[in-house]
Amino acid sequence: MSILIKNGTVVTSAATTKADVYIEGEKVHTIGTNLSMKADKTIDASGCYLFPGGIDAHTHMDLPFMGTSSSDDFETGTLAGLHGGTTTIIDFAFQKQGDTLQNALNVWHEKADGKAVGDYAFHMVVTDFNEKSRAEIGPMVARHGISSFKTFMAYKGALMVDDKSLVGLFHEVEKYGGIVTTHAENGDLIDTLKAEHIAKGNLTPKFHAITRPPIAESEATGRIADLAFEGKHPLYIVHMTCEDAVNRVRQAMLRNQKIHVETCIQYLLLDDTVYEEPDFGGAKYVMSPPIRKKKDQEVLWAGIDQGLVEVVATDHCPFCMDQKRAGEKDFSKIPNGGPVIEDRMELLFSEGVVKRGMSLQKFVDVTSTAPARIFGMAPKKGTIAVGSDADIVIFDPTKKHKISHKTRHMRVDYNMFEGWEVTGKCRQTILRGTLAIDDGKALVGKGFGKYISRAKYAQPLN
Ligand code: URP
Ligand code: ZN
Ligand code: ZN
Repeated sequence: MSILIKNGTVVTSAATTKADVYIEGEKVHTIGTNLSMKADKTIDASGCYLFPGGIDAHTHMDLPFMGTSSSDDFETGTLAGLHGGTTTIIDFAFQKQGDTLQNALNVWHEKADGKAVGDYAFHMVVTDFNEKSRAEIGPMVARHGISSFKTFMAYKGALMVDDKSLVGLFHEVEKYGGIVTTHAENGDLIDTLKAEHIAKGNLTPKFHAITRPPIAESEATGRIADLAFEGKHPLYIVHMTCEDAVNRVRQAMLRNQKIHVETCIQYLLLDDTVYEEPDFGGAKYVMSPPIRKKKDQEVLWAGIDQGLVEVVATDHCPFCMDQKRAGEKDFSKIPNGGPVIEDRMELLFSEGVVKRGMSLQKFVDVTSTAPARIFGMAPKKGTIAVGSDADIVIFDPTKKHKISHKTRHMRVDYNMFEGWEVTGKCRQTILRGTLAIDDGKALVGKGFGKYISRAKYAQPLN
């Protein structure tokens, strides 16, 4: 199968060039002007950008969490991703406390293999760092292509690990060329504040945000940065939301420390007035960390501009309203997470590129190239280059549309950006040389996605 894309503008994190792209099999074969190969299919991309397929470095498909499971599985979630220009996800395989990493990996392969429509990789979540799981780190990197290990500093009793485990994991992961990633919130502080508010009868969704204040995030951010610095380990902090945490990273960088920071599109665009939405509407935005203030959004946008925030992901973890209603009488029982995967690329283009003048290079970098580079998928993924996987989004930058859960494909009954007017639309999505989405129509289905085995974080120079 071959595809010739004519008259588009190819955007990579390095350059914007008017060029044709010829795809043969799963790979980009030729990039040039006036290409005239005989292809099975020719697409006219006049007036459109060609972006590298989006990589969402933070998703939770089919995740058992807080007494229920996230409502998108690997089939529906990755298909929604393809509609929204995301061709590859990195999902999280959760170790059960007392169980092995290998079992976690087996369970996640069962959820995804033969089901995912888009490509997928896994981070390994270490919830129980002991001698047995320590010995599993090396094989995870070398045999299974899992080079990133996630830790939680919150959700005590279920996911949270102590500082001793964090230190031990840093050492072990670095030995094998991996990287530790962290959900940075102080779980003990949050649990104390939660208990205090629940005792006072403060039970509505807005108390989710009140009991997870910025200081819980900035303290944990500073602590994990210090622990990484002590052993000179690389670090990736997931879903950063607020000024105080960003400033902790700024301080760490003054001592020449390398920390990668991810934020998510919802933290760039929403503020904490969402928790006032009537009729339990605030529950739609219950996620951790919570949605912050407008001034925090500005800090995150500036952080992207400065190169401090390198990745814009989603933390896609949807729950339908009847699942959210488990916490109707107590905010602490509302399952944490929201649906975002399909909205990320179009929203960042509209709000970032169109409204704030973000460069096309930066847009591509934070949505695709940087996650590919950090998480060992470059240059196979994350760029449009000869020899790379032909994962390409043909994007119409002028098309205006309105977001609604009724027209999106995520398996959930609301959208956090319902009614938002957006400029720019993913017209076609190509995954490994196959036209996957054509003007809203899915041309691939269950099982089309492939597992992506990733390289080490610390690539040797040659
Ligand atoms: O609220 C969230 N973010 N739910 C998913 C789990 C996590 O903390 O990433
Ligand atoms: Zn998290
Ligand atoms: Zn998450």
